[in-house]
Amino acid sequence: MKTRITELLGIQYPIVQGGMQNVGYAELASAVSNAGGLGIITGLTQPTPEDLAKEIKRCQEMTDKPFGVNLTILPTIKPVPYEEYAQVICDSGVKIVETAGRNPEPFLPLFTKHGVKVVHKCTSVRHALKAEKIGVAAVSVDGFECAGHPGEDDIPNLVLLPAAAEKLSIPMLASGGIGTGAQMAACLALGADGINMGTRFLATREAPVHENIKRAIIDASELDTALVYRPLRNTARVYKNQVAVKVNEIEREQGKDMAFELIRDMVAGTKGKVALTEGDIDHGIWTSGIVQGLIHSAPTCAELLQEIMTECEATIRERLNGLLAG
Ligand SMILES: Cc1cc2nc3c(=O)[nH]c(=O)nc-3n(C[C@H](O)[C@H](O)[C@H](O)COP(=O)(O)O)c2cc1C
Repeated sequence: MKTRITELLGIQYPIVQGGMQNVGYAELASAVSNAGGLGIITGLTQPTPEDLAKEIKRCQEMTDKPFGVNLTILPTIKPVPYEEYAQVICDSGVKIVETAGRNPEPFLPLFTKHGVKVVHKCTSVRHALKAEKIGVAAVSVDGFECAGHPGEDDIPNLVLLPAAAEKLSIPMLASGGIGTGAQMAACLALGADGINMGTRFLATREAPVHENIKRAIIDASELDTALVYRPLRNTARVYKNQVAVKVNEIEREQGKDMAFELIRDMVAGTKGKVALTEGDIDHGIWTSGIVQGLIHSAPTCAELLQEIMTECEATIRERLNGLLAG
């Protein structure tokens, strides 16, 4: 399949694995790239820029296909040396960056100078248009379905994608809630040039998370996610475990003036990491999206991409075309 995204990123299939904190290591990124998609290493999962340089090198040894690095620019308690991470990406020869969180404008001159293409992930038409205006190569439009931060507008992809496609000129990835080939066909029909997935890649053989996490995703339905941090206007969609339920209770009790201090310990990133790596699913908060309702197995990335492409093509050729013929 050839789209503006396969052309832009130099990949076989228009399928991207979005940045995932504590998951986007070289093992997963290289597996996705070797399978014909675009794998992405998560920059800030590496504790220092030097560690990121080593992780990129490891990935380069595991694949000769293109892969990217995610740079999530968010306000953090501990200051992050973003410029140094960006410099490492440029020096390492990586040619694709997925930015997310804040406006990536301050980093664009550096990336442009080094021939790095920026795919900016955003959750609204206005942010996608702003990203296009400042010169990113493509956008990844994350609907309300997505795992992680869906923003505060709550517009699902059935409307968000065509609304963005109507106004954008640059290539667009559809992101959020996608896990099957039929959904991919739907996204292409709505104006996307490819898809970006997070949760679906979490339940693959190569994802470096505990088997209990993969099992939890397979067993969960689309009802089993929770939106946390709504009162703080920093909404995140996470797996609905005991911690998420408790956080929601506190948020309901406290209302919009809730102090972060009340939940800080429960939602600590270190606890979420333990949940993911040690498989104690109620240990902390961990990210997952409603597409878990459509995930029934943990295949290899190569099997997954083949399955999605086969179903996508069959949906276009047989189901949709068949309706016309009928
Ligand atoms: C475990 C996990 C961690 C994530 N961490 C990040 C992150 O650090 N930065 C980021 O930009 N997006 C992050 N995301 C969001 C994904 O890149 C992607 O946009 C999202 O998962 C798409 O929605 P889906 O899960 O429904 O496919 C994460 C998603 C998951 C499942």
